[in-house]
Amino acid sequence: MKSLVFKKDGLHRLSASYIPERIPNREAHQLEIFNTVIGFLEGRLPLKAMVVNGPSGSGKTVTVKKASEQVLKYCSQRSIKLEYRHLNTRFASSDFTLAQMIALSLMPNIPGRGYGSRELLFTVFDYLEKSGSSFLLVLDDFDSFLSGVRSRFFTDLLKISEEYEDRVKLILILIGIEDVSRKVKDSWATSFFWKIGRSFKPYSAEEISVILKDRVELSFNENSVDDSLVYFIGRLTERFGYGSARYGIELLLASGLNASYEGSSRVVPEHVREAQFRIESIITPEDLKTVFSQDPEVRRLVERLLRVFESCEEPFIGFKTLEEHGVRTRDSNVVEKLKRLHLEGLLDYNPSRREVALIGMPLRLLQQAFD
Ligand SMILES: Nc1ncnc2c1ncn2[C@@H]1O[C@H](COP(=O)(O)OP(=O)(O)OP(=O)(O)O)[C@@H](O)[C@H]1O
Ligand SMILES: [Mg+2]
Repeated sequence: MKSLVFKKDGLHRLSASYIPERIPNREAHQLEIFNTVIGFLEGRLPLKAMVVNGPSGSGKTVTVKKASEQVLKYCSQRSIKLEYRHLNTRFASSDFTLAQMIALSLMPNIPGRGYGSRELLFTVFDYLEKSGSSFLLVLDDFDSFLSGVRSRFFTDLLKISEEYEDRVKLILILIGIEDVSRKVKDSWATSFFWKIGRSFKPYSAEEISVILKDRVELSFNENSVDDSLVYFIGRLTERFGYGSARYGIELLLASGLNASYEGSSRVVPEHVREAQFRIESIITPEDLKTVFSQDPEVRRLVERLLRVFESCEEPFIGFKTLEEHGVRTRDSNVVEKLKRLHLEGLLDYNPSRREVALIGMPLRLLQQAFD
């Protein structure tokens, strides 16, 4: 069946492997990485291993990939010979397998046996020396690798790199959720790290919204997804997804699929809540019933809110509308209860924007709490 919400080919622009044209809120990071790599390459900066760290989904991988693309373009315009590889090291189980991954990425026909990890690295440098190329090597999820093995890899690599100092330039970028430089125990190696100045922090709801608006434009038909819905997903991502863009994009995709299955031409808040609920259950009708039994006034308040949510397709309900439905948003007693429901995860209560949204469960489950 043809989807009414997704554009033809839209889905793949929401996939993990898709690299977007623009990376909002990370342009400055990209530029800093680009400038630093070029600085290393052209000898303006002493050569070090760049460390990029920050929480999951904060854009480390995509930003380094964009910066690397930019470096490749810069080099090809100036006929600078550069090999570039971006390797995920998460599943490398030893120094040997990692050295093998690197060697194979450059020399696919190298025999798998008969070498140790240091020998493989020497082979890599010999290859680079012969080809006259510098090497931009990105080791992604490198903190996972270092936690899994007792590694001498980094020290070996630096020592070998020193031996080839004037002949081969190796530019390393080490990505991890944790700061990789803290995981390398060898004090000799610690002066070889270069930390970028800008940090990768979790995205705020506003930042996620800007990122998602681009994806909406690329993947969805016009008028299928309102801006307010995008901000709604941003709030869910900030509150439940640790500000991870991956979480936000997956939520957008799953919400769109829900709309598609229903044959709907618009994605509505309930599609998002159902998608969120499938990722994790924040609060159940049973939890709510317990809260209600402790405080009947909360029950009455939520019942009123339920009527508003049922009658309104907007994700966020303004205080004015709530007042019209008998929710006294200025009454301090009510405010306390709204705050409590916010903390429980049922609501997004936002006094500065003067609005409330149902975020902790689908409407259909909220109705069950009154059965
Ligand atoms: N600023 C951004 N603009 C557009 N898309 C982004 C941005 N930041 C992240 N993304 C997208 O969000 C997803 C997660 O980003 P990425 O893989 O770079 O995160 P990460 O920091 O490497 O996370 P992890 O530590 O889990 O590997 C990717 O699909 C990426 O394309
Ligand atoms: Mg990553």
